[in-house]
Amino acid sequence: MINMHTLNTIHLNSGQKIAIKYFSMAVVLFVVQIVFGILAGTQFNNPEFLYQIIDFNVNRMVHINAMIIWLLYGFIGSVYWLIEDEAKTELVGKKLANFGFWVLTIAVLVVVLVFLFIQSGEGSYASIWLINEGREYIEAPRWADIGIVFVMLIFFYNIYATFIKGKWSGIAGVLVLDLAALAGVYLAGMFYSDNISMDQFWWWWVVHLWVEATWEVLVGCIMAWVLMKTINADRRIVTTWLYIEVTLMLGSGILGLGHHYFWIGTPEYWLTIGGFFSALEPIPLVAMLVHALYDSGVKNFKSTNNPALAWLIAHAFGNFFGAGVWGFFQTLPQINLYTHGTQWTASHGHLAFFGAYATINIAMFYMAIQVWRGNIHMGSSLIDNGWKWKTSLALLNIGVVGMTIAMLIAGYKQAFIERAVEGSTWSGYFKAQSDPSFLLAMDWRMTFGWIIALGLIILIWDLITIGSHSEMKNNKPKLLST
Ligand code: HEM
Ligand code: HEM
Ligand SMILES: [Fe+2]
Repeated sequence: MINMHTLNTIHLNSGQKIAIKYFSMAVVLFVVQIVFGILAGTQFNNPEFLYQIIDFNVNRMVHINAMIIWLLYGFIGSVYWLIEDEAKTELVGKKLANFGFWVLTIAVLVVVLVFLFIQSGEGSYASIWLINEGREYIEAPRWADIGIVFVMLIFFYNIYATFIKGKWSGIAGVLVLDLAALAGVYLAGMFYSDNISMDQFWWWWVVHLWVEATWEVLVGCIMAWVLMKTINADRRIVTTWLYIEVTLMLGSGILGLGHHYFWIGTPEYWLTIGGFFSALEPIPLVAMLVHALYDSGVKNFKSTNNPALAWLIAHAFGNFFGAGVWGFFQTLPQINLYTHGTQWTASHGHLAFFGAYATINIAMFYMAIQVWRGNIHMGSSLIDNGWKWKTSLALLNIGVVGMTIAMLIAGYKQAFIERAVEGSTWSGYFKAQSDPSFLLAMDWRMTFGWIIALGLIILIWDLITIGSHSEMKNNKPKLLST
């Protein structure tokens, strides 16, 4: 029997109703990220393109800030999505959560418009407050920072208080502590010092301790919950793994911070600390990979949501390769001396952010759409054979991996010509930048960039349409109902 399934919030609990708002905004900002990535990448190869209309530095800034913000929207959405199921009670502050969503969204909109309309000018205390704080990845001015902290406090309160009212679990404990750390670390990005070393020292607390500690723990919690929902993984096993991962992650991730302190004017002991601890960082990532594969292997993998599972697998591998392997490449100071700040770094940045974080958010979008349409079956029975999700999965992953390889080749050329042969001179920099194989690699980056863009279009088309005409197979066990 073929049935029409429309999106209807009647199928959602209160936390999930909030979650879909966050997810929708995440998708919008994902599009913004890719549009500005394409602009920045095009300008990298043709510097006169849109020169002085919208400059490279602005496009790059919007590209990476949109990324951070859409991933945060996705994470907040994911936690609101699972909270009522995990705490076995209703979300305490529904109105508050909605209010937080609108404060954040209006702040983001205003900040982006200001970035686009005021592209250059004098830097002063006023511009830190009103225009741009000048810290890569978290460039929002201070007024918006305060708004963001406020929204994070609402979020934290809501999650904490809901668990207190309902049921505590291992996942709940780790999640609440992690959200406190995630919000707390953000404050370090609001200090200002005109000593550039000091400024960078604190700024890295946000960037590094987010992606290599608090965000990793957060995705560990999300993954644990999703594995229980999709493949009926045993709670005791996922929770035990979660504790192991958190311990390892915090052990290596916190002092691993040192790999950003090699060349910014901090004391020399950071070379040893950073080199040693960050070399250990792949260990928890291996643990996470083994965890996911172990759980999927021992359970008989009967999934009602194939796209979500496929993206979770992409996450497990992406996290391991993007963060663990590509990070490890350049983390010893002896190597980093040659690779620091080259396309090698950008290669790691792209594979890690996409592989570890974009993927798991996309998995959660698919989890959400399934329930939002009335808990439909999204296994192999999809009417159109699921060609859209499969194509977009392939295009996005091939696109990112292709870009990563292109940038790795470009970075290798830079490390070789600019650093090793020319001894880090200014002329060496230009020699590397104009080397034919460097330029060719940068063209390949754009080819793969367009593949990513196409993959994103099909992903959105799929999210809007998947399951709308699905067969009624609802009498199957509703693993995803909450
Ligand atoms: C999902 C987790 C991770 C993400 C999202 C991530 C992302 C990034 C990004 C975007 C940068 C560039 C920062 C800049 O603008 O200068 C970077 C730099 C770096 N990352 Fe990661 N990273 C992750 C995990 C790791 C791990 C586990 C290691 C080590 C094993 C590592 C080692 C490094 C090093 C050494 C640099 C400095 C590169 C340079 O000298 O320019 N990263 N990371
Ligand atoms: C159409 C696809 C994309 C294009 C054309 C693109 C292009 C670019 C360009 C030109 C830069 C500036 C690099 C530089 O300063 O030399 C950049 C930086 C960056 N992009 Fe993308 N990007 C794309 C997709 C993505 C995706 C999917 C992610 C992750 C989810 C991502 C994450 C980043 C990060 C983290 C940086 C900063 C890296 C660093 O400074 O080391 N980008 N991108
Ligand atoms: Fe780091």
